[in-house]
Amino acid sequence: MNNFISLNKVSKFFLKKNRIKALTNINLDFNLGKIYSLIGPSGSGKSTLLNLISLIDKPTLGSITIENRNINYEKQNINDSYRSASIGIIYQNYNLLNDFTALENVSIAGLALNNNPKLADLNAKKVLSSFGLSKRLNHFPSELSGGESQRVAIARAIINKPKIILADEPTGNLDLKNAKIVFKTLMKLKNKNRIIIFATHNREFAEMSDCKIEMIDGNIKSINGKLQ
Ligand SMILES: Nc1ncnc2c1ncn2[C@@H]1O[C@H](COP(=O)(O)OP(=O)(O)OP(=O)(O)O)[C@@H](O)[C@H]1O
Ligand SMILES: [Mg+2]
Repeated sequence: MNNFISLNKVSKFFLKKNRIKALTNINLDFNLGKIYSLIGPSGSGKSTLLNLISLIDKPTLGSITIENRNINYEKQNINDSYRSASIGIIYQNYNLLNDFTALENVSIAGLALNNNPKLADLNAKKVLSSFGLSKRLNHFPSELSGGESQRVAIARAIINKPKIILADEPTGNLDLKNAKIVFKTLMKLKNKNRIIIFATHNREFAEMSDCKIEMIDGNIKSINGKLQ
């Protein structure tokens, strides 16, 4: 499907003492089978954009369509179900549940979609093993390295085979060696029925995407180097 995700004249303002324009009149399309990178200085709007696509935050102006469906940000239940079935989210600081093991962190996400503990457990073990973590299944987050934690977080994000993967600076907390391992893990998730969008400050990683979106002050500065 062309334009699997479309942002139409999307703006996001935050009301503090002054009005902060985090995003201004953004038009963007995302197609299945492609990996997109978001790059730009701190404060340029990368996370804000990802939060809108993840249906966590709502645009101030404009609309977003996903799978040809205009998102109604008032229908939280519908959006929550869509997110748990179709969107995998990866954060810079892993966001793992501290009281649960690596295996449990992943299998709980699997349980949220279909209530079958045995299947969730089996799938979680499979994915974690494919990420080289078969010896870390019973470790708690405090017993994992940063790189391992992020691979658990990626396993959790993909356990339900999401069509959309959103990653906000997934390698931001890692040293270069682990950043490369985690980034490679993310790139391998590309397939023709999926969109991957990641924000990064690493230009080398951004260059490896199919489409590089450069942001500045809440605007799109360039797409694949072409000024907008
Ligand atoms: N909840 C909020 N309340 C008020 N202002 C916010 C909020 N979230 C973001 N902003 C502001 O919106 C702008 C865009 O922020 P955003 O977090 O999207 O930037 P970013 O490109 O992700 O930056 P970084 O590279 O540092 O993560 C910034 O000026 C920020 O201060
Ligand atoms: Mg950010």
